[in-house]
Amino acid sequence: MSRFAITCLLAAAMPFGNLQAAEDAPQAAPPEFKMTPIGYVKKTDDRATIVLDKKYQDGLLGLDQWSHVQVIWWFDRNDTPQRRAILQVRPRGNPQNPLTGVFACRAPVRPNLIALTLCKLLSVKDNVVEVESIDAFDGTPVLDLKPFAPGVDAASGVKVPHWAGPPQ
Ligand SMILES: C[S@@+](CC[C@H](N)C(=O)[O-])C[C@H]1O[C@@H](n2cnc3c(N)ncnc32)[C@H](O)[C@@H]1O
Repeated sequence: MSRFAITCLLAAAMPFGNLQAAEDAPQAAPPEFKMTPIGYVKKTDDRATIVLDKKYQDGLLGLDQWSHVQVIWWFDRNDTPQRRAILQVRPRGNPQNPLTGVFACRAPVRPNLIALTLCKLLSVKDNVVEVESIDAFDGTPVLDLKPFAPGVDAASGVKVPHWAGPPQ
């Protein structure tokens, strides 16, 4: 039997590869992904905007046709190894709330400091996106913008833990 045929037979017998061997293998260094801010949050007393680097301005074409935008940003004020190692918190900083995993709440500490805020879009002009409000501090780095698409982003039969209050 040719080497090719043997390989095919082995592949058919183990369609997902040799899982046990993969689990036992020494862990390779995890991949790292390169990201740079596309812009920054700029807040004044009466205005909240996301000011994009001019080189990304073309990416805003059509955004003004949507009512809401999801802003993906970085909890940069918490970017320390200690804060990135925190895996459980009392949500909302309330000691009355149950100890909760960071993947089960919206805590600003987590291994990857990714934040997501749904914002009402007020205007898009040149490289500036004005939103009604955003819970990010002035100067916060913004990683991405995505329009809120109700067909994709909404859910029915929503359930939330008691500390999070009634579904809104
Ligand atoms: C509870 S987090 C939720 C953020 C986002 N809506 C989410 O769900 O991912 C919002 C809080 O993060 C904090 N925050 C805002 N900007 C931040 C920044 N650049 N770095 C660290 N914390 C920040 C503020 O205290 C703000 O009230």
